[in-house]
Amino acid sequence: MKQNATRMSIMLDTMLEDDGVTLKSYDSSKSLGKKFYIVKNYVKKNKSIILDIGTESENTFEIAKNVTRCKKIYGVNIEEGFEHYSDSELENMKNFKFYNGYSIPFKDKMFDVITIFYVLHHIKKPILKKLIKDIDRVLKKDGYVVIVDHNVHTKEIKKIVEKEHKLFSPSGDYYMKLMTMDEIRELFPDSYEICEQSYNSSIYNYHAKFHMVLQKK
Ligand SMILES: C[S@@+](CC[C@H](N)C(=O)[O-])C[C@H]1O[C@@H](n2cnc3c(N)ncnc32)[C@H](O)[C@@H]1O
Repeated sequence: MKQNATRMSIMLDTMLEDDGVTLKSYDSSKSLGKKFYIVKNYVKKNKSIILDIGTESENTFEIAKNVTRCKKIYGVNIEEGFEHYSDSELENMKNFKFYNGYSIPFKDKMFDVITIFYVLHHIKKPILKKLIKDIDRVLKKDGYVVIVDHNVHTKEIKKIVEKEHKLFSPSGDYYMKLMTMDEIRELFPDSYEICEQSYNSSIYNYHAKFHMVLQKK
């Protein structure tokens, strides 16, 4: 799997360089570490419990714990098309659960922080609405939602992100509707306040991205 990822990464670099874009090589651990570094500021050491929606890499939990020093981290993903863990790995991953994409399999107000990295643009609107409602159910009052996603603010960047997705799934057998930061903010109730928001428009690690931290009031 790792070999495939490396091959894909080289192919993507070549493909984008053909378009005149130079890229640094992709390193998933570094990239996960950076995402959880944003989360760190919202985590109480050895107290906060995190839920990661759309957990994919096998080292997510370890990286998240090391970077944020949270008490616990759980993860969910949908089963459809998911081939990242072997059955034996899954057996050992007590904190990871498959679910239907919107009914989060955890109790009310269980989490201090919910992370959603590059997931929301893959979810169809009706499911997305239900998922956001359930995020609100499992998140504690004053808890945080940390979102990192593509910053698709220009046509060029949108084209690159679309190309990237095609490359990783050549059959095109996936749903994708890229959203702007404002559109993503609109998905959450008005009572959620933006604590932090930032974006870059340069292309590194494949694409421009943004992050947004919302607090449930
Ligand atoms: C681009 S990957 C991002 C993986 C990981 N979060 C990261 O940052 O590297 C998108 C992931 O979202 C997952 N996904 C799609 N719909 C979902 C849903 N309704 N709930 C949770 N995960 C979902 C996909 O299975 C896939 O693993």
